[in-house]
Amino acid sequence: AHLYPPNLQNSCLRQAKCRAKGGAAGFKVAILGAAGGIGQPLAMLMKINPLVSVLHLYDVVNTPGVTADISHMDTGAVVRGFLGQPQLENALTGMDLVIIPAGVPRKPGMTRDDLFNINAGIVRTLCEGIAKCCPNATVNLISNPVNSTVPIAAEVFKKAGTYDPKKLLGVTMLDVVRANTFVAEVLGLDPRDVDVPVVGGHAGVTILPLLSQVKPPCSFTQEETEYLTNRIQNGGTEVVEAKAGAGSATLSMAYAAVKFADACLRGLRGDAGVVECAFVASQVTELPFFASKVRLGRQGAEEIFQLGPLNEYERIGLEKAKKELAGSIQKGISFSKK
Ligand code: NAD
Ligand code: LMR
Repeated sequence: AHLYPPNLQNSCLRQAKCRAKGGAAGFKVAILGAAGGIGQPLAMLMKINPLVSVLHLYDVVNTPGVTADISHMDTGAVVRGFLGQPQLENALTGMDLVIIPAGVPRKPGMTRDDLFNINAGIVRTLCEGIAKCCPNATVNLISNPVNSTVPIAAEVFKKAGTYDPKKLLGVTMLDVVRANTFVAEVLGLDPRDVDVPVVGGHAGVTILPLLSQVKPPCSFTQEETEYLTNRIQNGGTEVVEAKAGAGSATLSMAYAAVKFADACLRGLRGDAGVVECAFVASQVTELPFFASKVRLGRQGAEEIFQLGPLNEYERIGLEKAKKELAGSIQKGISFSKK
């Protein structure tokens, strides 16, 4: 059944063409997992983003309702919904950016790695679709465990012959958002004025905030350093426990995902100096993937920045992070090679 009467559908098409002509920098964005806890507020915020001309919402459940609802917002992007595997290819064809929050979230007592068995297969299937239908798209991967799902996606793209390491970005923006918030609280500053680089990966000790590199320049006592590092590393668990079985961070994650997607789109448009942290293929350490600051440009992550000077606390943290990360990366690669 059509969601709209045919004449209205035609007028939607006319509108889409007209908006595409008018907006020089209109990007086509797909959200996979768009009906979920992250997906819905993410879809709403992307509908507001002036850089988006077309927004495709894909999920295995509930996309007609979410799409009807969001399509009534009087902002520029044209919204289309896609439901279930048979519609995945149409959802992906022609996309510039694909954001993936599909998959199960944690419950109290679980680690992100406990999600591997379900989410690894979901990410593999979705990435096979991307390789086939929009091989040049930039991919923002949110589904956990990010430390393993990014290597899985890389292997899928390699197998399909479409892998461009600059275009595959694991989203670690929520760690930066949390770090900015918690550090601002300690310093008594507005979080919008604070910038904390967070490197490594996206789970427990692999989340490594570089408090010695906070902007504006500042210093912390050992007690503050330990409090902030623990709070940033366990921010996800703090939300999982507070939600008490009803899932993990969704609203702050949607905010962080949009902040990151917007940076990717500004890079694709050709803006200069767009720099954010992301989990990418990297030569910054001996590991094949690592999160650090990257410069986002027309080709994706065009430049990957070194970690810069670390203090002793951070050097010890880095060794712990690398040890855990190595195992998670290998787990993703082995899954793909099975
Ligand atoms: P959710 O269960 O509320 O939503 C997930 C959505 O994915 C559901 O609508 C579900 O139908 C959909 N889905 C399941 N299988 C699918 C498939 N094969 N194709 C398309 N869609 C499919 O979960 P959520 O709270 O939105 O979290 C989603 C994922 O994001 C989890 O893995 C979670 O751990 C992760 N997450 C990551 C970060 C991060 O910082 N990277 C932060 C928060 C959550
Ligand atoms: C987060 O950091 O909030 C997410 O990775 C979700 C989780 O499981 O903690």
